Amino acid sequence: MKGWLITNAFLHTHKFTEIHLWLTEAAKKLGVDLIIKTNAEVLVLLNSDSTNVEFNNIKERPDFILFWDKDVRLAKYLEIKGYHVFNSSQGIAACDDKSLTHLYLQSAGVKMPRTIVAPMTFSNIGYTKLDFLDRVEKELNYPIVIKECFGSFGQQVYLAGNRQELIDRVTDIGAKPMLFQEFVQSSKGKDLRLQVVGNQVVATMYRYSDNGDFRANITNGGKMKPYEPTQKQIELAIQCCKILGLDFAGVDILFGKNQEPIVCEVNSNAHFKNIYDCTGVNVADSILAYIIKRICIGNK
Ligand SMILES: Nc1ncnc2c1ncn2[C@@H]1O[C@H](COP(=O)(O)OP(=O)(O)O)[C@@H](O)[C@H]1O
Ligand SMILES: [Mg+2]
Repeated sequence: MKGWLITNAFLHTHKFTEIHLWLTEAAKKLGVDLIIKTNAEVLVLLNSDSTNVEFNNIKERPDFILFWDKDVRLAKYLEIKGYHVFNSSQGIAACDDKSLTHLYLQSAGVKMPRTIVAPMTFSNIGYTKLDFLDRVEKELNYPIVIKECFGSFGQQVYLAGNRQELIDRVTDIGAKPMLFQEFVQSSKGKDLRLQVVGNQVVATMYRYSDNGDFRANITNGGKMKPYEPTQKQIELAIQCCKILGLDFAGVDILFGKNQEPIVCEVNSNAHFKNIYDCTGVNVADSILAYIIKRICIGNK
């Protein structure tokens, strides 16, 4: 069996290349030839009759594509060309934009923090008035969580303690899409990461910050512990993946009052080095085994 691992041509940090290596090694263990192709090699080439992606002399047709990138236009293109893409372009797009994730989950009644999506503006205009912040203040109490819709590792997630901090942050973010969110006080500095593959939670870690940061991300100095999820937490994580059309994902869950699970976000291309270090579960193995099973069933 042959597969392509689509990666981003412009992301070269160890954090990403390490994941690519884990995935190709997991494939090798299962007898699958998983070849890395970047999104700059497999360009979206429209107006072509061929069912193969013919570019840079790429003529072979892989049995599946493991899409480890956010280039959803390319993912969509490959789906149109008839390739079996994991995760789907729609699933990746629904996770990449945190406001879209919340919209999809909301329509299915999933419990999330109270959220307001900032009105869209244009990069050459920005926010010429900020009166919508009056509504934000009325609906959400300080401190208010502000998130850029596109971001990861906690790096585009902020907390505003008062109106001035809110204005400063919004001004700083500029015209980029963002959302405002209720701060789940009972989850301050702690959350859960559940890794789902297929319809199963294969590993879970409890993340906590002991440096006063409200974000539990390991990249922000958070610590981790293996965790035995409750049935409710498991069901919620799997439900999110079903709603968003994901084959696998890292689901972040907050602790509401009385430990009620509240969905924070869903990551279609969740990094799995930390969860391996924490739990010993190699998520790359689970993902490849799942894909192979799916392809074999499809071929029967
Ligand atoms: N509404 C919230 N209330 C409390 N903590 C939050 C909230 N939203 C996010 N956090 C904390 O911030 C971290 C980063 O937020 P998240 O939405 O997961 O963004 P990222 O994609 O950067 O990981 C979470 O893991 C959690 O610890
Ligand atoms: Mg997160």
